[in-house]
Amino acid sequence: MAAAEGTRKKVIIDTDPGIDDAMAIFVALRSPELEVLGLTTTFGNVHTALATRNALHLLEAVGRTDIPVAEGSHVTIKKASKLRIASFVHGSDGLGNQDFPAPATKPVDQTAAAFMVEQANLYPGQVTIVALGPLTNLALAIELDPLFPKKIGQIIILGGAYSVNGNVNPAAEANIFGDPDAADIVFTCGADILAVGLNVTHQVVLTDADREKLEQCDSKYARYLCKIMGIYFDYHKDAYFIKGVYLHDPTTLIAAVNPSLLTYTEGVVRVQTVGITKGLTVFDNTKKRYGEITAWTGMPTVKVAVTVDAPAVVELMMQRLMTDD
Ligand SMILES: *[C@@H]1O[C@H](CO)[C@@H](O)[C@H](O)[C@H]1NC(C)=O
Repeated sequence: MAAAEGTRKKVIIDTDPGIDDAMAIFVALRSPELEVLGLTTTFGNVHTALATRNALHLLEAVGRTDIPVAEGSHVTIKKASKLRIASFVHGSDGLGNQDFPAPATKPVDQTAAAFMVEQANLYPGQVTIVALGPLTNLALAIELDPLFPKKIGQIIILGGAYSVNGNVNPAAEANIFGDPDAADIVFTCGADILAVGLNVTHQVVLTDADREKLEQCDSKYARYLCKIMGIYFDYHKDAYFIKGVYLHDPTTLIAAVNPSLLTYTEGVVRVQTVGITKGLTVFDNTKKRYGEITAWTGMPTVKVAVTVDAPAVVELMMQRLMTDD
């Protein structure tokens, strides 16, 4: 079953765990298509220090302490320390208020950005970064090594709302809102980028019925997730009036496992960094020649996901989580 080491896609998951981050990380560990080189941490669902603790804890919980964790930035690229933290979605501990013991393992002695640059140099063109939080660490990696965008294989970003309302406010999606300046640096850096935004992730719902199926099986992955998921379901019922949860992070991760489950369009994305629309992602489909030079003119294009085979994504996730190694 498992693909030979050499053919597995090398991924680094930049993450702020987070209940759906935990799902995505577990799917990655259970996917023979992927080799997880490491987890890097960021702020978002929780502050970075807690994200690091949670990343280490999740790897311990499923016996994968062989995978390194590198801690990321505690502040935005502009050094802002007043961050938007979504603890009301994931619990104050980020993992459903379960009071888990502190992990025994430690992060590596290297920043997230340095780890990304190192791995991109070790395996030029072969590393995929799956970015599940604000894009600060990636922007720092680009600052650290201007050739990083050329050396990295692909960057798959969970972020943005493309001509559709955001989830922080009508303009902005949470990860882009978390560090809009970093996002604009990443979107225009020239790397091979696939952005998976709310257009797509709001199509992928784990229903109450799916949750029951997970509860009835006894793989260690499903058991763990069922323990922490309650608060995430409650939030969705309250905020969106739906019986189920959006699978933002797992959908983005699955874009690395099986890219054919999504379709995408290509164009230039710029991010608004100030004002009431701070965090807005504005997509230029490049189908019009404007009369003057714009902030989009001549900028590198990125891929933006447009449609997703939602049932197939949910099924793939369930299948991976409902069995043990
Ligand atoms: C996102 O969805 C909106 C509303 O359906 C649509 O107008 C827009 O074109 C979509 N964006 C992309 C990039 O497909």
